[in-house]
Amino acid sequence: MSFHGAGVVVTGAGSGLGRAIALRLAADGARVVVSDIGAEGGASTVEQIAAAGGQARFVQADVSDVDSVEQLIGASVDYLGGLDLAVNNAGIGHHPGDLHEMSVEEWDAVISVDLRGTFLCMRSELAHMVQAGHGKIVNMASNAGTKNAPGMAAYTSAKHGVVGLTKNAALQYARRNIQINAVGPGTILTEGLAAFGAEQQAEWADLIPVGRMGRPDEIAAAVAYLLSSEADFITGHTLLVDGGLMWD
Ligand SMILES: NC(=O)c1ccc[n+]([C@@H]2O[C@H](COP(=O)([O-])OP(=O)(O)OC[C@H]3O[C@@H](n4cnc5c(N)ncnc54)[C@H](O)[C@@H]3O)[C@@H](O)[C@H]2O)c1
Repeated sequence: MSFHGAGVVVTGAGSGLGRAIALRLAADGARVVVSDIGAEGGASTVEQIAAAGGQARFVQADVSDVDSVEQLIGASVDYLGGLDLAVNNAGIGHHPGDLHEMSVEEWDAVISVDLRGTFLCMRSELAHMVQAGHGKIVNMASNAGTKNAPGMAAYTSAKHGVVGLTKNAALQYARRNIQINAVGPGTILTEGLAAFGAEQQAEWADLIPVGRMGRPDEIAAAVAYLLSSEADFITGHTLLVDGGLMWD
């Protein structure tokens, strides 16, 4: 894919999938605003992009906070000279358990980051894209956005919400040259999951029809495709990248 000259913001890009996506888009020529709530991870992603010859800047932001998101998108537009592409990737999970034992605080935290955060980012990004007359957005859903994730009531609800929001917004902006899609990863071997050790990883891999976990670069490839001009006729779609888990 070539994104030469395009400006993109990637949230949650201080680690895991967001970092892989930022690195991939920068390698393909995009100028990237790397955003994260954590400064250390974000700075490290920017360093990795620069070391590979790419262009990036870190902007710290909390996607669940209205002012923080508005500042992020404003700073991105200033740095990039506009906003062509956006990847709303920041998200958190929670410990599995029975719904009646889940605290209201935990429910609110997951919905605030995963669903409200996606809405707030889209709201600010779309304001600029509508003015510019073009744009593409990819939201990070999950396999849990289309099927059940046992014991994960808040996460399943938030990610189903992200899939619904993606469909709804895609049609609202379809005639305005803005395409909005989502990617739904299955179980992907990020640093976070690697920390669980080899035995747990083997158990997860065994549950996946293709017999292995996905790699972050495989999610980045799907995001890059949906952001590219190759995908101009695709909107409102959630592309599952899950080794067949959805059909199991
Ligand atoms: N790794 C997987 O297997 C997997 C599977 C399905 C979906 N996902 C989704 O992919 C996305 C990235 O997941 P990951 O595995 O890379 O996780 P991760 O924890 O490695 O990365 C998430 C990043 O988001 C940042 N973040 C957290 N709260 C934030 C906030 N309020 N504002 C801004 N940034 C915030 C974190 O600091 C972190 O750098 C999430 O939306 C997650 O739900 C991941």
